[in-house]
Amino acid sequence: MRFLTLRDFDYRGKRVLVREDLNVPLRDGNVADETRLVAALGTLRALRDAGARTVVCSHLGRPDGKRDPKLSLRPVGERLAALLGTPVRFVDECVGAKVRAAAEGLADGEILLLENVRFHPEEEKNDPGFAKELAANAERYVNDAFGTAHRAHASTEGVAHVLPAAAGLLMEAELAALSALTDHPQHAYVCAIGGAKIVDKIGVFKHLMTKVDTFCIGGGMGNTFLAANGVDVGKSLRDADLGPAKEILELAAARGVAMLLPGDAVVSKALEDESHAAEALLVEPLGDRMILDIGEATAGVYADAIRKARTVVFNGPMGVYERAAYRDGTRIVGEALAEATRMGATTVVGGGDAAAAAHMLGFAGAVTHVSTGGGATLEFLEGKTLPGVAALEAAASAAQTS
Ligand code: 3PG
Repeated sequence: MRFLTLRDFDYRGKRVLVREDLNVPLRDGNVADETRLVAALGTLRALRDAGARTVVCSHLGRPDGKRDPKLSLRPVGERLAALLGTPVRFVDECVGAKVRAAAEGLADGEILLLENVRFHPEEEKNDPGFAKELAANAERYVNDAFGTAHRAHASTEGVAHVLPAAAGLLMEAELAALSALTDHPQHAYVCAIGGAKIVDKIGVFKHLMTKVDTFCIGGGMGNTFLAANGVDVGKSLRDADLGPAKEILELAAARGVAMLLPGDAVVSKALEDESHAAEALLVEPLGDRMILDIGEATAGVYADAIRKARTVVFNGPMGVYERAAYRDGTRIVGEALAEATRMGATTVVGGGDAAAAAHMLGFAGAVTHVSTGGGATLEFLEGKTLPGVAALEAAASAAQTS
């Protein structure tokens, strides 16, 4: 991947349009999870300290091209200012005369946050005129929004064709960490994968099948694989169509990739019935019970594979980790990730649920990298081109030839 970075430009006194992914959950008008804001701080601090006049833009939620006060970025700007320890000015538009005046009023090192770009339908349409309007208030463009790099929108893709464009520090870090999973990864290479449905991850399975040595499978999708192998999973959540599971098992067998499936599980009659949760060996029919986590022996096998690995990607929880009775599988796998990291392995947590589990169970700080992307990370792991990244590459090669 070849694109310019923050280090390639001099920013002092220059107005810089920075696309961040500030799409954070809000509760009662306040930021409920500031992970993405913390991730944006590196680039914003670097630009501030370099004397740039920084104009930040982002989307928040899916307002469908209409102004929605509940999806205003104003409270996000307040939280960002507190985290930065610097005032962040706010303007309730992202294009037009108000923005021009606010951007022109910036002194070196000051930061301005614009209102939600998705209040305009032209943003998601990647309208070239809208991209030019966004670009009109800056001399440089920095895309730091890895979490939105899978969207070809005006602020993530279009602007890169208008202004000299570089990747921000988060974008660079994400791409470096995720590339270690796909370009010449060190072996042994383990992918611990969970999540509800196989269809959501079929692209990840197919792409990583050419790279990994072992898949450790849990979550709802584990039940579908078990069913495809003829195991009676009782009332467990599983895909009705076993075709994709069978196809993936056949692919793995043909390539010699190990598909580790649960041999024991934590089961109960209902999700809420945590007090009756019990370990069960998956050799007898489960009847009216359902699988809600991998069992202790399975977690031990998965942890062992992870500890011996040089590269590990964790892409989905092993069970319903939000509930105490069903979180041990994910916790044990997380501890193994931390141990592998200490022994020098490259370990990456990728995907929305996986990152949430890593933060909640306390192993986020003990791995090489936790991706801030949801859909973007999945698409990267599927081997897809991310339009936001492709636009940065195109901008770099255009700059080289001009
Ligand atoms: C995300 O949360 O995955 C990104 O911010 C992208 O949001 P979107 O799915 O609404 O485009």
